[in-house]
Amino acid sequence: MYFALARRRHKLYSNTDRDNASFSLAFCEKLPEQISARKLAAATDNFSGDNVVGDGGFGVVYRAVLENGQVVAVKKLSSCGLQGDREFRAELQTLGELKHKNLVPLLGYCSDNNDRLLIYKYLKNGSVDTWLYCREPGMKPLDWPTRLRIARGAAQGIAYLHQGCEQRHAIIHRDIKVSNILLDEEFEAHVADFGLARLVNAGETHVSTDVAGTIGYIPPEYSHKCFATPKGDVYSFGVVCLEMLTAKRPTDQFFRKNTGLVAWVLGLRSGEEKRMALDECLRERCEHGAEFDQMVEMMRIACWCCRDAPSKRPSMQEVASLLERLEKRVVLGGGGGGGSPTPLLERDRDGRSSSTSSSSSAPVDDPCVVELTTTV
Ligand SMILES: Nc1ncnc2c1ncn2[C@@H]1O[C@H](COP(=O)(O)OP(=O)(O)OP(=O)(O)O)[C@@H](O)[C@H]1O
Ligand SMILES: [Mg+2]
Repeated sequence: MYFALARRRHKLYSNTDRDNASFSLAFCEKLPEQISARKLAAATDNFSGDNVVGDGGFGVVYRAVLENGQVVAVKKLSSCGLQGDREFRAELQTLGELKHKNLVPLLGYCSDNNDRLLIYKYLKNGSVDTWLYCREPGMKPLDWPTRLRIARGAAQGIAYLHQGCEQRHAIIHRDIKVSNILLDEEFEAHVADFGLARLVNAGETHVSTDVAGTIGYIPPEYSHKCFATPKGDVYSFGVVCLEMLTAKRPTDQFFRKNTGLVAWVLGLRSGEEKRMALDECLRERCEHGAEFDQMVEMMRIACWCCRDAPSKRPSMQEVASLLERLEKRVVLGGGGGGGSPTPLLERDRDGRSSSTSSSSSAPVDDPCVVELTTTV
């Protein structure tokens, strides 16, 4: 198995030719609009540094204004040959054909000599990564209802990808992380970056491929098996939820050598330990019992997603529906008065009933998640 370490963010990507990477767009049934390199140069002031909004492992992202006044984001893939082409193809092959309110809309593309550019809807509030770790002056930390709404939205977007149908293949994203969840002006989540995505044929549960993704988000089973499954995305999504709760990166220096965010949270036992693990600005809200219960519940869902054995993890559809119900519970008055609402997850993994009086009473490494019994 060969893989290369990209410049930034500890990203792993395949360096082999195993996925038939010769460049052609013939594979795409439906392509978004093709936009000329000349128009994109004009829209970005000749790719001026003043318009750069982000710089990732595969290229630079610019804010651009098209001739008709529309503001878009233009990602100029670095000219790293094969890998750039593969990212470009994967993005067009997957995102080009998808439409969902929680996926970033791909509006167009440009393939001109060695240049590969992708044009997306511009999402004004940038990435969750920025809001958790790189806030600029004037950016207040995200409050709890917003974080829960983002997690719910991202889960719905990923669940949609995983759900193939007669018209299209299921899709495994393979690079779910906080910098790939973008936020619009209403802070609705949009999953982005399909450069590592793979299509799953009907009737198949996995795709044979190389190890790829970003260190800290790669599920343990990928380190010794050359295939990707939807449960790999579920693991990465669990890490994202833990970050939104704790504001700690998965491989933060805070964690002792050989441990990381997942192992750390799995080791938390008491309600007080969990409270102390929360992002400081969430901790301040813990007097509001209903919100604290939601946080603990989300921690339990995240831990379920991060279980070592993929078969013990929930499907993305289950996660999305749990988060949807968790979000509605407070809105509909499930907590409000500070009492503990009934946990959404109330059986242990062998199917035995567990306490339903307070979700925080169950250890987070034993998230008691087999079936959902609470209706909102
Ligand atoms: N459609 C968009 N609208 C607004 N900002 C965007 C958009 N797409 C990307 N960005 C910004 O550009 C940043 C860099 O994105 P990019 O995907 O290139 O790198 P990354 O996600 O940080 O790392 P990686 O290359 O590993 O995915 C994002 O974190 C986000 O802040
Ligand atoms: Mg990205």
